[in-house]
Amino acid sequence: MLKGKDMLSIHDLSVDEVNEILALGHELKAKQKAGIEHHILKGKTLGMIFEKSSTRTRLSFETGMYQLGGQALFLSNRDLQLGRGEPIKDTARVMSRYLDGIMIRTFGHDRVEEFAKWSDVPVINALTDLLHPCQVLTDLLTIQEHKGKNLKGLKMAYVGDGNNMTNSYMYGCAKAGIDFVSANPKGFEPDRQVFENACKDAEETGASIKLVNDPFEAAKDADIVVTDTWASMGQEDEHEERKKIFKDYQVNAELLAVADKRVIVMHCLPAYRGEEITDEILEAYADVIFDEAENRLHTQKAIMALTMG
Ligand code: CP
Ligand code: NVA
Repeated sequence: MLKGKDMLSIHDLSVDEVNEILALGHELKAKQKAGIEHHILKGKTLGMIFEKSSTRTRLSFETGMYQLGGQALFLSNRDLQLGRGEPIKDTARVMSRYLDGIMIRTFGHDRVEEFAKWSDVPVINALTDLLHPCQVLTDLLTIQEHKGKNLKGLKMAYVGDGNNMTNSYMYGCAKAGIDFVSANPKGFEPDRQVFENACKDAEETGASIKLVNDPFEAAKDADIVVTDTWASMGQEDEHEERKKIFKDYQVNAELLAVADKRVIVMHCLPAYRGEEITDEILEAYADVIFDEAENRLHTQKAIMALTMG
């Protein structure tokens, strides 16, 4: 179903396609752990364009391609002619002649859309200012490992900045049937258009998507509490000011006291301890949080296998 398609946003995927990615992700994880070869992308090459920093995304895509029998090329913006102003529409057409898939991490979401428009091979969004779909699909897989395969009816609370993660959680939860509540300070809500799209998407699964200002209201009886940095890549100059704005939006013991007793805490990392999450809570839920980091590998292998296979 996903063969030849781009993966720019979870909004573009059907519920079945989301489930297909998750199912293959679990299968490939089991195969990797058992040492069973799965060279689904033998002889294929993924180009990875990074216009922002990364630890997990680069490592997991590059290692994942290798485990699938293919290879990955790390292409930093500093080295590509793209960084010197070569148009996206030329770069995308040239790269499509060499590669079997292209992964991009960049600033404006319009850049990956433009790339996908001109590329003949699948384009995978590895984070834009608007969305981080690979991370949220990974989070869904991780929740299945910790809470069981049926995600319907679980409650997820997001606390902090309404950013690319929040936007993608709205899309992911809508497709998975998870009731999602985001608590953000006024003026830092997630994207309005994404919220409206997600509410529409949620009609199919019966999920609810809500925005509130009070973190305790969001966290009440939550099965999953998530957060992310208060200052995303590109907002470094605002970091000090944001620390003041978000100080009451921290995942800590007091907040978790109102959540479900069996709550799990997630964080896409990198984390800023003492800001969006305390060191105590990050370490208490390290098993989940580092599973989440590991699962980037397995989930993205599934995405690549399905789109590029
Ligand atoms: N979570 C995530 O995308 O991490 P990196 O920025 O290290 O890739
Ligand atoms: N919101 C963060 C996520 C990092 C993985 C950022 O965009 O920097």
